[in-house]
Amino acid sequence: MKKILLITWGMGYIWSHAVVAFEQAGYRTVIVDNLYNSDLSTYEWIGNILWYKPDFHELDLRNKNELEEIFKKYDFDWVLHFAGLKAPFESQEKPVLYFQNNISGSLNLFELMNTYDVKNIVFSSSASTYSTVNVPPITEKCNQVPETPYATSKFVWEKILEDLSKFSGFRSINLRYFNPVWCHPSGHIWEYLDDIPNNLFPYIFQVLSGRLPSLKVFGSDYDTLDGTGVRDYIDVVDLVDAHVLAYKKLSGITGNFWFNDSFNVWTGKGTSVLQAIDVVETVVWKKVEYSMMDRRPGDIPVSYCNTNKIQIELGWKSLTSLEQSIQNSWKFYNKQ
Ligand code: NAD
Ligand code: UFG
Repeated sequence: MKKILLITWGMGYIWSHAVVAFEQAGYRTVIVDNLYNSDLSTYEWIGNILWYKPDFHELDLRNKNELEEIFKKYDFDWVLHFAGLKAPFESQEKPVLYFQNNISGSLNLFELMNTYDVKNIVFSSSASTYSTVNVPPITEKCNQVPETPYATSKFVWEKILEDLSKFSGFRSINLRYFNPVWCHPSGHIWEYLDDIPNNLFPYIFQVLSGRLPSLKVFGSDYDTLDGTGVRDYIDVVDLVDAHVLAYKKLSGITGNFWFNDSFNVWTGKGTSVLQAIDVVETVVWKKVEYSMMDRRPGDIPVSYCNTNKIQIELGWKSLTSLEQSIQNSWKFYNKQ
């Protein structure tokens, strides 16, 4: 019988890709999402890619009674849990909303997992939990000092899962990633945008397609090769493959052993904003209009990591080049 996975917030950008990856790897997924930052078109596209639609329940994780009905309905083996609200900058303006949404919904979930004895979980954490004084490349042992409410919510979760593992027998893996970008190679699923994008690549593509006049490059005076912020951009399909491998790692643990560990999921290569623009221009043969601006509050100068641990222990490595990822994204934008 197929293993059944509960994918919380699975209609979102990354997790719609995860649904496809897990279904294609032979698992059955059940999606729960309140459509706060997504819409049903993603569900249609998941159906088009797979040729069938996994079960979907529109509900808010903060509604414990409704969530419990889902636990009663399915015999889950496993949970993939992904935070609801995700913008570090916005979280500084609305900290209570971030804690309310991200933490209280998760506590309901953990309580039900405990009650229904579903104790395997892969959790999407974030590189933003690392202290900004760490010198890249960042390893999993580097200090974690969250600097925004968003990052704090991730850090608190990691700690809760560590304790639930030690004291309640959970088996958990935290995957810390930073800048997942791009879309599915089919060109059908992508980040939901009902507003001006916060993230670099969605913004660049809006500029290329003429929907926005020009990119604002935030910060030109960082201590980096060209003064602009450096990030480790990872293809979203490679990223979700790391979750399949994390699942396999947890599934391989037999007996009554608890487990908790964290892995960086990045490429190990830093790219500055100006370098990113350069790569896009080369791949799509179009000029990206931009202007230099002040730094954006909450941004860190440089972030890229050491990927040894995940390569050795999970057998994961990023396979898609930046150029290929951009090609995939452009295919989508060209269709709009
Ligand atoms: P997303 O906003 O596209 O997806 C999140 C989904 O959660 C949305 O579909 C939204 O409707 C749903 N949701 C929000 N609150 C909910 C609630 N209370 N109950 C039910 N559903 C709810 O986000 P994403 O880009 O797919 O990110 C997923 C995870 O990856 C998050 O944990 C995010 O913090 C993390 N992450 C993302 C990035 C990035 O650049 N996208 C970077 C690092 C980490
Ligand atoms: N940038 C610009 N102009 C823009 C958007 C971004 O110059 O319009 C720059 C930023 O200043 C930064 C780089 O591009 O130097 C990357 O910025 P993003 O907004 O794309 O990504 P962040 O690194 O700020 O944040 C990402 C995710 C968050 C996640 C965070 C930490 O968007 O969801 O990594 O894990 F929480």
